[in-house]
This record gives sequence, structure tokens and C-alpha cells, in this order.
Amino acid sequence: MFNTTAWNRIRYDLYAPVYDAVAERALRQARRASLSQIEWRPGMRVLLVGAGTGLDLPWLPDDIALYATDLSPAMVRRLQKRADALGKHAQIEQMDAERLTYADGDFDAVIMHLVLAVMPDPACGLDQAYRVLKSGGQLCVLDKFQPDARPAGLARRAANAVTSAIATDITRQARPLLEGAGFVIEKDTPVLLGSLVRALVARKPSTRRVEHRTDS
Ligand SMILES: C[S@@+](CC[C@H](N)C(=O)[O-])C[C@H]1O[C@@H](n2cnc3c(N)ncnc32)[C@H](O)[C@@H]1O
Repeated sequence: MFNTTAWNRIRYDLYAPVYDAVAERALRQARRASLSQIEWRPGMRVLLVGAGTGLDLPWLPDDIALYATDLSPAMVRRLQKRADALGKHAQIEQMDAERLTYADGDFDAVIMHLVLAVMPDPACGLDQAYRVLKSGGQLCVLDKFQPDARPAGLARRAANAVTSAIATDITRQARPLLEGAGFVIEKDTPVLLGSLVRALVARKPSTRRVEHRTDS
């Protein structure tokens, strides 16, 4: 029950009214650091996946074609309100990151901030991001990750039973996940709480190179 898309829709609908109070200030610098790692170009097509209330919007350039999605209807309503208030033109839709309806190779950049650690199947979300990116397109990820060098130990897995039900998974590993989907990691920067929260930019290569995939 607690690691499903249905539960995520329910809980993020409930969290939406208080989300900004909890996440805006605490993550502002990390969010800006993450977005600053993208190689921006005027006119590029950019997709925000799991965009929440739109806390990324103020830090995005104006000269891009912006698309934004989220699973939770309450989040989507707040996202639209923020876009309107900021005067940002964006195509906003309620959509499951595991079932994106965009065409293959539609985007120059996909941004996944704090969503890979809450989705039940992050590998599926990354497959979808890979599919909708053009060759050479950039994936921008900000999230909590277990260090790549070693799997989560017993204590962390025990804590994860609680954190993953109410907030976020803390046992997933960035490199196996991203490389398992075929991405080539270009930037990997610790941005908050030591190396718990990392900002990564990975590229979709012209030929897919799928590395080993784990179930993390
Ligand atoms: C921790 S919030 C992050 C929101 C925003 N990206 C940010 O940086 O503030 C996680 C968001 O992911 C959304 N989400 C969870 N599962 C999803 C899925 N399968 N597809 C799309 N969005 C999802 C939630 O509704 C929520 O808005």
C-alpha cells in the first residue's frame, strides 16, 4: 500500500497545501545549484516531471518552451497558479511519470527534482525520460541517494521503511539507476546534508549503452 503510485497521488494531494512551507526555503540553494548545471540554450524544449507546486519555476530561463507534469491534481492546480503568478508560459498536465504521453525524442532537457526517490519504480520513470529526450538531451536530477560505492546497510534500510511511506526513499543509488537507463553522467555534485542530496546532469547518448541494472 505504501510504495505505490496510488498512495503517492493521495499523499501528495494531502501535502500540497503545506508543501511550500516545508520545501521552499530548505531546498532553494540545492534547487538553484541543480538547475545551474544544465547547459541552457534559447528555445530549448524542457520537461519538468513531478513538478509539484512549481518551486523550480522562478529559477528557469524565460526563453524556453516549458512543459510541466505531476501525478497529484492538487499539486497541478498549485503549479498552474504559480506559473500564472510568475507570468511563465507552460503547458501543464496531470501525468504519471511512468506513462508520459509525449512523443519519442521530444525534449532537449528533462528535469526530475525530488521525484525519483518517491516513485515506486524509478527505473521506469528514467526509461520514460530517456525515451522523450532527444539524442544528446540532458537529464537533470536532484534527490536523496545512498552512496554509489555501497548498498544501504541494515539501519538505513530500517529507517527507510518509515521514510519511504511518508516522505522519500533513502536507499536508492544514483549511478546504477541512471546508467542502467542508458544515461551518461556528466555532473554529480553533493548539494545538501553532506552527500545525501546530489544534483546530477546526465546525457542521452546517440547510441544507447545500457549498464548493469539493479532493483534499487
Ligand atoms: C517531493 S515532491 C517534489 C516536487 C518538485 N519536483 C520539487 O522539486 O519541489 C514529489 C512530487 O512528485 C510527484 N509524483 C510522485 N509520483 C509521481 C509519478 N509517478 N508521476 C508524476 N509525479 C509524481 C508528487 O505528486 C510530488 O509533487
